[in-house]
Amino acid sequence: MNNLISVENLKFSYDAGGAFIIDGVSFKINHGETVSIMGPNGAGKSTLLLALVGILKDYSGSIEISGRKLKDFDEKTLYKTVNLVFQNPENQLFCDTVEEEILFALKNLGVSKDGAVEKLNFYAASLGLEKFMKLEPQHLSFGQKKRLALASVMVIEPEVLMLDEPSSNLDYSSKLKLIETLAGFKKAKIIVTQDIHFALAVSERLIYMENGSLIYDGGFDADNLKRKCGSIYKEISDFKGLAAARGL
Ligand SMILES: Nc1ncnc2c1ncn2[C@@H]1O[C@H](COP(=O)(O)OP(=O)(O)OP(=O)(O)O)[C@@H](O)[C@H]1O
Ligand SMILES: [Mg+2]
Repeated sequence: MNNLISVENLKFSYDAGGAFIIDGVSFKINHGETVSIMGPNGAGKSTLLLALVGILKDYSGSIEISGRKLKDFDEKTLYKTVNLVFQNPENQLFCDTVEEEILFALKNLGVSKDGAVEKLNFYAASLGLEKFMKLEPQHLSFGQKKRLALASVMVIEPEVLMLDEPSSNLDYSSKLKLIETLAGFKKAKIIVTQDIHFALAVSERLIYMENGSLIYDGGFDADNLKRKCGSIYKEISDFKGLAAARGL
């Protein structure tokens, strides 16, 4: 069996008996695959990630990782298997310094000091955080906090890395650094984004959601997008049209 993640008929509502925010979603993801999830505000993308990472438990349908039900994972295994960088980095940062923030998970997982320092240096450099190591996370700018939240989770190197709007608020050079870091990160990745350029740069497969339902799951090839996922095709076409109109 090759599937790393298998989601079957997933349904979730924040209020018992209320509307389904995730409404019968099914998909599979293989080892090493990178998938972008896109869709309008309120489509249920962040909610889906919260379920996939085991934070929302009150769902129906099933989520399996390597053939094992997500609900059966103990906390520590779960942490190392699926981990999420939240949409808002403020929800994720709580240590006194940037360095401690990146090292926190590694200490908890019992990684040796040398191993932890090696990973700290690698992810700090990859995400351009070296200058900030002794600063308080709360004193960073929003984009810098975002990069720190990314480093603090990527350093765990979970089997499935989930990122919620990772490129939002990043300047172009930081975005390029992140694209390069993700290209070198060989585990499976699920990336929720509103940024079509970023999605095209980091993934080969797109899942598009609307109103809690999955309405497209496939490649970025023009014919398929045109026929089945008109909104993304329109966004790419509009951008090309604007660039051409400016003589670019
Ligand atoms: N804790 C919550 N309690 C009740 N409703 C919620 C809660 N969190 C989200 N929702 C609702 O669930 C729906 C989906 O929200 P979600 O954050 O998953 O959307 P999204 O696709 O990530 O949107 P965005 O692109 O704006 O980030 C929205 O209508 C939202 O109001
Ligand atoms: Mg969201």
